[in-house]
Amino acid sequence: MTDHLAKAVARRRTFAIISHPDAGKTTLTEKLLLFGGAIQLAGEVKAKKDRMQTRSDWMKIERDRGISVVTSVMTFEYGDHVFNLLDTPGHEDFADDTYRTLTAVDAAIMVIDAAKGIEPRTLKLFEVCRLRDIPIVTFVNKMDRESRDPFEILDEVEEKLALDTAPMTWPIGRGRTFAGTYHLADNAVRRQDSEEEVTKVNGPEADSAAGLLPENDRDTFIEETALAIEACRPFDLEAFREGHLTPVYFGSALRNYGVRDLINALGKYAPQPRAQKAGDRLVKATDPKMSAFVFKIQANMDPNHRDRIAFVRVCSGRLQRGMKARLSRTGKTLGLSAPQFFFAHQRQLADDAYAGDVVGIPNHGTLRIGDTLTEGEDIVFEGVPNFAPEILRRVRLEDAMKAKKLKEALQQMAEEGVVQLFSPEDGSPAIVGVIGALQLDVLKERLRAEYGLPVSFETARFSVCRWISAENDVEVEKFINAKRGDIARDLDGDAVFLASDGFSLNYEAERWPAIQFAHVKEYHPQKAA
Ligand code: G4P
Repeated sequence: MTDHLAKAVARRRTFAIISHPDAGKTTLTEKLLLFGGAIQLAGEVKAKKDRMQTRSDWMKIERDRGISVVTSVMTFEYGDHVFNLLDTPGHEDFADDTYRTLTAVDAAIMVIDAAKGIEPRTLKLFEVCRLRDIPIVTFVNKMDRESRDPFEILDEVEEKLALDTAPMTWPIGRGRTFAGTYHLADNAVRRQDSEEEVTKVNGPEADSAAGLLPENDRDTFIEETALAIEACRPFDLEAFREGHLTPVYFGSALRNYGVRDLINALGKYAPQPRAQKAGDRLVKATDPKMSAFVFKIQANMDPNHRDRIAFVRVCSGRLQRGMKARLSRTGKTLGLSAPQFFFAHQRQLADDAYAGDVVGIPNHGTLRIGDTLTEGEDIVFEGVPNFAPEILRRVRLEDAMKAKKLKEALQQMAEEGVVQLFSPEDGSPAIVGVIGALQLDVLKERLRAEYGLPVSFETARFSVCRWISAENDVEVEKFINAKRGDIARDLDGDAVFLASDGFSLNYEAERWPAIQFAHVKEYHPQKAA
């Protein structure tokens, strides 16, 4: 069994794709799934995305959750490996969902548009990966279009991300002349018109690769590759796994080019499921007892059964259908009667899942984001963070008689991670917090459709929210007593300070040097009331 477990774990690669909108994430996802045999026809992921373009269409899709969820996680096999690709919402208004998802992966592919280089959202998502030292494989996409000089792109990655680069391939031409890639370490070529394995090149210095180019471009190519081999860093597995160096591949997702390089790189270099921290304990992926954590909740995936699916990442052992798991937050037992795997277009009951796998667990509100499930052990995984909301609003009910129902509904929405909820210490109505305005639209629509509660939003007198703490709890108490009108509790009962603006936050921070004002809170559900 242990041997079986170790083998199952070693085969798994769990990853996400990070990029700025339009760099080609959807196209690449589709091509990866095609390679994995998970979908037959290119264009299906894309078709879904197109339907999600406008806000009203998007709302429809939200209501019909069956569509949006199929891409939350996609499992496919390729070669000896099982790949779990975790999708992240494209729209930045749902950034906190993306950040939580990144806590559940062991590696990421960073897609860069060859004409644009590092764009703002790529930078932001990269920073989240860096917090966890997630190894990154870089894909410079759209080489079939006019693009920037490859050295310039490598420099930009190094400078803007403070990340070492190791080019693994080099583009043979670009734009109209793009003819394939030259594999620097192996002196081998893969032609643009063939996705077959690379062909070894006989002869020195990429001469025959240059033969694929118009005569005028050959010398430049030979000079470039010579320089790349001489001046760029060679690939270093350890540095990659530690998150300090990224192997870089060039290609074109649209033309299905370079995609195989990426799958091979993930299989060969990306780490197998990593050990996860739970307080003082480091839970190894090969530890025999099952453990897992919830990083995402999706409600009403099937409109006929008002169910919630909790997406859990298995961290160790073997999650088996029918087993009983302990929910650390409450100490209660939960039967896992119908865990599910997700493929591109279907879900399927999961009989066995191993570390690195993501399974959906249907439940009626028992599971919350950040929850830990175990085979009996009393541990809590660290690391599903909350980010301070950027928009704070009070919810105004059209029918004041329904206040109790609203309270329950908001609590549920907060447990699902749709919004954050803050209850002011002075007893005034709860405040909802979101990162992006679209989240408010979703909240409004779901309160109406699922709970029959038409609401509107009012600006609160606060616009900034920070979690407060101090070395000494007495200091926090002092602060709370002095500022009671500006203090609220989050879902876990942790105190936040609400300020009208950044200026008044700074002012209080200066006056109360013992208090720390944090804009990120790691999720610790054991503290929940
Ligand atoms: P995203 O999910 O990161 O937002 O990007 P997506 O895959 O939707 O790609 C954005 C646009 O870039 C699409 O064009 C897509 O076809 C194009 N694209 C992606 N990869 C490549 C590539 O390797 N080469 C070229 N030339 N284009 C690429 P669009 O015009 O928005 O959509 P469509 O009408 O072409 O489908």
